[in-house]
Amino acid sequence: MKIAVFGGAFDPLHKEHIRIIDNAKNLLGMDKVILLPTYNPPHKDGASASYEDRVNMLKLFASSRDYVIIDETERELNLEKSYAYIVLAELKKRYSNDELYYLIGSDSLRKFDNWAHPELILKSVRIRVITRGNDVDIAELAKECSQKYNGDIDYGFSAEEESSSSIRLQLELERYDELEGRVIAPILNYIREHGLYSRYADILKKLRANLKERTYNHCLRTAEFALENAWRVWEDYDRVMLAGLLHDCAKGKEPLKDICEYPTPSLEVIHQYDGAEIAKKDYGITDEDILDAIRYHTTGKPDFSPLGKLIYLADKLERGRVYPGVDELRKAMNEGIDHAFSLALKHSVEYLRTRNIEIDLLTLCAYEWYNR
Ligand SMILES: [Fe+2]
Ligand SMILES: [Fe+2]
Repeated sequence: MKIAVFGGAFDPLHKEHIRIIDNAKNLLGMDKVILLPTYNPPHKDGASASYEDRVNMLKLFASSRDYVIIDETERELNLEKSYAYIVLAELKKRYSNDELYYLIGSDSLRKFDNWAHPELILKSVRIRVITRGNDVDIAELAKECSQKYNGDIDYGFSAEEESSSSIRLQLELERYDELEGRVIAPILNYIREHGLYSRYADILKKLRANLKERTYNHCLRTAEFALENAWRVWEDYDRVMLAGLLHDCAKGKEPLKDICEYPTPSLEVIHQYDGAEIAKKDYGITDEDILDAIRYHTTGKPDFSPLGKLIYLADKLERGRVYPGVDELRKAMNEGIDHAFSLALKHSVEYLRTRNIEIDLLTLCAYEWYNR
């Protein structure tokens, strides 16, 4: 039999995985497809489901495909780190009469030299490469690697981009309707029933109870934008999530103190100071960087932390924001966070000036600081 081996975290299994599984059968003529879930997926965002839950989700899918086999070799070997050459050799022992075809992405083929023992991998399996989007030019590289390591590597088929981390983010934000068509219903139901990817459920519940729906949704989009851009400032996932979700936790509330006690009389600005207080008192936030990012998210401030700049920008550029110039500011993110931050401050100062609205002193100081 010809058997494809498809490894991955499957955290969770999504529609693009399923297309790959079906294409392995339909386009590559495989008789069976083995799904090989990694035992210890190294996700940096900390939102992983357990191995057991990931396997259970695979089983929900496999019940609809008689050619899919879920293989738990990785768990049985209990390796500290998942080494393909060890796992595939074990599989080859189990399926000694079959031809195994290991499916890898073109990005993995590009790093094939850095894999542990590529030559041993090719003793156990043939490799078929799955390209993404426009990235189809791998024939030459496949040939080179085949010769170098004395094996069979060839182009398989192309697949669309899909990101498990973006799916996990939508799950953590409880935006299940965003996932229709991306995760199959039985898996989505399993995730909800078992409370997977729900580390922020308590915070979301409290925010939902305390904010207008519009503000609540804006907070989700702010966290989303900030997390999608967190890599630009090497920020920690949880800190970005907490600051993004909580930045407007005081929005629409009565000021906590007498208005004279605030650095500004503007109600538009006061909620940033109260936000930091409420985040500390009601949500148990003690991290000063998170509190500062909340405390100055409307005005900005000179010498702002990377997290502060990120939240300031996310608040103004999240995908629900519509105003002249917002697309240019979003594009400016590609030039670096400092560049985007200084442009956003400039945009804000100019906007307020043309409308004769008094500009907060902190905004002016930040503007001077970053546009020196
Ligand atoms: Fe705000
Ligand atoms: Fe906001």
